[in-house]
Amino acid sequence: MAVEITADMIIHDVVTKYPQTLKVFQGHGLPCTACEVGSRESVAGGARTHSLQLEPLLADLNRAANGEPVVGLKPERKMPTGKGIPLQMAGQTGGKIRHVVAVMSGKGGVGKSLVTGLTAIALQRQGMKVGILDGDITGPSIARMFGIKGNPEKGAEGIEPLVSKTGIKIISMNMFLPNATDPVIWRGPMIASAIKQFWGDVDWGRLDYLLIDLPPGTSDAPMTVMQSLPLDGVVIVSSPQLLALDVVKKCIKMVQTLKGKIIGVVENMAYLTLPDGQQMEVYGPSQGTDLVVTTGSPLLTQLPIDPQIAKLCDAGDIEDYDSPAFTALANNFIKAVKLAR
Ligand SMILES: Nc1ncnc2c1ncn2[C@@H]1O[C@H](COP(=O)(O)OP(=O)(O)OP(=O)(O)O)[C@@H](O)[C@H]1O
Ligand SMILES: [Mg+2]
Repeated sequence: MAVEITADMIIHDVVTKYPQTLKVFQGHGLPCTACEVGSRESVAGGARTHSLQLEPLLADLNRAANGEPVVGLKPERKMPTGKGIPLQMAGQTGGKIRHVVAVMSGKGGVGKSLVTGLTAIALQRQGMKVGILDGDITGPSIARMFGIKGNPEKGAEGIEPLVSKTGIKIISMNMFLPNATDPVIWRGPMIASAIKQFWGDVDWGRLDYLLIDLPPGTSDAPMTVMQSLPLDGVVIVSSPQLLALDVVKKCIKMVQTLKGKIIGVVENMAYLTLPDGQQMEVYGPSQGTDLVVTTGSPLLTQLPIDPQIAKLCDAGDIEDYDSPAFTALANNFIKAVKLAR
């Protein structure tokens, strides 16, 4: 019976079962086919990500899988890249990173990058090896928070991430721009490619945790991360405002629709401690319980509004921050990741 490759099949499975299809994928412009992670999407998804026509690709794949000649394939096309990012996904990270967790929220400005940064710092303080992949390609803020400047170099094993004062490995789009204020004006497929390259082309070495900071919303970057990277799960960040909660619920539904795991929830800007020690709920009462019920996942911590945070972020010294809520975040995070496995 003739082999049939369909649009919903996973690229990795197709290539593993029918190695002769590798050339077809590459000839149609899917350079990530050989990469352990980049190929974990469907044939249709890969075609969509790389703006390719699905029908001709499927026809050629089926010809190759059935031992028929495939003519007119283009030579392998390199992945589109931003300035300075070396080409080709090395895929060398497979197996070396124990946990991959994305930090998400439907809402902008609720503290995703802060929670990513603080979690990384807290894990690092517990002696773990930690990296941060800044998946916010058009609005990266991680490097500034850590006071990191410079351009990553290409080493023998791939792009070498920059390293923070305390040893956290970080990669962010801003590191590849001639000026930090230059805008990245890219459409979805380019953003998806950049994120995949940050995963596959970067020499992360051995890590206990790789945290991925995502932009707000439910569009290209979160989709790419959810569908292409081997996530343990996601941490959802919200603030007590009802408006934030509504938008965050969209994000929760997206994760659930894509069959991702919600490891836990962080409520940021939950209260402000006044000079007399009282806690003022600036944005209204906590919505933490609602989030826990909606997600079925634990509340990892409630972070206060702390002027010290903003000051340290602006100065690039976030690694100097300390607070009890912050310690709780690391401890609960580690437990929750173990539970989510
Ligand atoms: N708990 C807090 N106390 C004081 N300042 C905070 C707190 N949380 C965040 N901030 C400040 O608010 C700003 C936005 O935070 P952050 O960049 O982490 O949000 P975000 O959700 O990642 O935003 P974006 O949607 O733009 O990516 C930052 O300047 C940060 O310093
Ligand atoms: Mg951010």
